[in-house]
Parts: sequence; C-alpha cells; structure tokens
Amino acid sequence: MLILGIETSCDETSVAVVEDGKHIRSHIICSQVEFHQQYGGVVPEIASRKHLEFINPAIDEAIKEGGITFGDLSLVAVANGPGLVGALLVGVSAAKAISYALNIPLIGVNHLEGHVVANLMREAPPAFPWICLIVSGGHVNLIEVKDLGHYIPLGKTRDDAAGEAFDKIATVLGLPYPGGPAIEKLALRGNAEAIRFPRAYLEKDSLDFSFSGLKTAVIYYLKELKTYSSDIPLADIAASFQYAITDILSKKALMAAKRTGVKTIALAGGVACNSSLRELVRKKAEKEEINLIYPPPVLCTDNAAMIACGGYYKYLRGEVSSLELDVYPVMELSEK
Ligand code: KG4
Ligand code: ZN
Repeated sequence: MLILGIETSCDETSVAVVEDGKHIRSHIICSQVEFHQQYGGVVPEIASRKHLEFINPAIDEAIKEGGITFGDLSLVAVANGPGLVGALLVGVSAAKAISYALNIPLIGVNHLEGHVVANLMREAPPAFPWICLIVSGGHVNLIEVKDLGHYIPLGKTRDDAAGEAFDKIATVLGLPYPGGPAIEKLALRGNAEAIRFPRAYLEKDSLDFSFSGLKTAVIYYLKELKTYSSDIPLADIAASFQYAITDILSKKALMAAKRTGVKTIALAGGVACNSSLRELVRKKAEKEEINLIYPPPVLCTDNAAMIACGGYYKYLRGEVSSLELDVYPVMELSEK
C-alpha cells in the first residue's frame, strides 16, 4: 500500500510517500525556520501563508521523488490536530482534495500519535506495551502505549513544553531559533555540573512536569551575573540547563516504566533528538534492564512520514475519516 502523508501542524510543510507504513519512498520537509527566526518563535499567520505556498509543490515533489503517479496511491493521511488551526487547515484541505479527486480513503491522524508511531518505522520494533515520552515544542506527554490506538496518559506538563523551554532559554542566551539544537551544540563545550539549577518534581509520585521554575531560575541567574560580571559562562549555563531538564525527563520516564512494569521506553518528538536526553535515559534504563528506542532525528522532529505511518495503522483498524474531517488545535490521545 502506498500512503501519502501530509503534515502542516506547525512550521514544517511536509509530504511523504510511505509503503506499508514503514518504507519511506520519498520525504519532503520544507522548513519555515528562516521566516520565523527573527521573531524567536513560530508566528501562526506566517505559518499558514507559507504552508499555502509550499503545499502543492511539496506534494508534486513527493510523488515525483517516490517514482510513482497519483494513481498509485492507496490512501491519504493528514495531521488534523493538535496544532495551529490555520496551519492544519492547509494540510487537511489538500488531503481532502486528493482523497476526493482520486477516490481514495482519507485518514485524519493525531499529530501526537504520529510522533509515537515514528518508533515503528524500523525493522522489528519491540512489542507493546511501551512507555512513550513525547517531548516536543508544544508537548510533554508521558503515556503508556498498551497497543496501537490505545494510550493511557500518565503525566504531562503543567506549564511549558520541554522544547518551548529550550527555545526560550536559547533566546535569553542569544542563540538562534529553534533553541534545542543550538543549546545542545553550545552545551558540548560546557560543564553540566557547573550550576545546579532547580528541578521541579512536583508532588511525590507525580508523573507531571513543570519547567517554568527552571526557566525563571536560569533567567535570574543570568540577570544577576550580568550585574557584576561581563564574563558570562554561556556554555556552562547551556549545559547545566540541559542537564536539569533532561534529568527530570529521564527520571520520570524511568519512574513510569518501573511503576507500570513496562520494559520498553520509547522517546518521541523534536527534543528526542537531544543526545544528552538519550544518554541519560539509556544509562538509567540499562540498570533496570529496560529497552530504549527512539527514531532517527528526521523522524523525531515534525515530519509527514510519521503521519503516513499513523494513517496506515488507523486504516488497518478500520478508522477512516469522512470529507467532513475537521481540525483541532487541542487533541488528546485516545484511551479507547
Ligand atoms: O516535534 P517538533 O519538531 O515540533 C513540535 O511538535 O512541537 O519539536 C520541535 C522542538 C523545538 O522546540 C526544538 O527546539 C526542539 O524540538 N528540538 C530539540 C533538539 N532538536 C529539536 N531540543 C533539544 N535538543 C535538540 N537536539
Ligand atoms: Zn510535533
């Protein structure tokens, strides 16, 4: 089966052709970073307009690169939430047009489910259940994946998303947007134990997260330091901040696995690209004989291949959408 996947929930216009939910035939990702960078974050109106400009060329390119014609497609899958309403509408409208014109099924895919199933796009993925830590620019969700389409929420952020915290701290450190990769790079030259930034564990046994206190602590540390010194150890601050945030994420992921008895942890979302997070979870998981998986970086950040993959499995479950499919800025993963 050849699935066309479309992803426009935030600032990447992405289209992919994926065979049987696993084999990527083509994958187009048009990043809009250069248009949002000067504002230090994504501007929703600019995102919608750029999606509109990029979507048709991206679809044509994906078909061409995949070495197929439109007539070869079996179904079209599109992210219909959560995300920016105007941005989502562009992808969903394009997907509806293709579904209608080709008379093939349309499948709306929860963007978060896309991040989870990106972990299936490998040879021999481990059997369910998994603990999945979704860490992106807009989300932190700790869930138990009982099976495909069956997700039990265990914890989430009460304020900022992890990627959002990386992006905000990058701005105060004078680094470009997106902040995650910039902080990771700078942190390589710093000492992660130079400054002990606070970690918010919340109530005993809570699997929720909070990053606003950490963010404020870094901002005040920098402010105070600047009052008496012009020698600011930016690399140490980046490394110590990164350590604080990845320390909490890894500890809670392990807590979730131990509490549920689940033996596989899967990382997902843009922040799952972070090597420090991967290493911390790996070390803790190894001690407990827990298996760790994560997708390659291109399948961690927003992409259409994961949406095609999610659509494929939804199709197999008989979950086909109608042409009335709507977009949802807020959308939870289904518990079933
Ligand atoms: O999953 P994603 O592409 O978009 C959302 O669904 O939000 O995630 C984007 C986020 C950004 O906040 C970016 O700073 C962060 O992922 N990110 C990283 C790294 N690469 C991307 N954060 C930390 N370390 C990285 N290497
Ligand atoms: Zn995402």
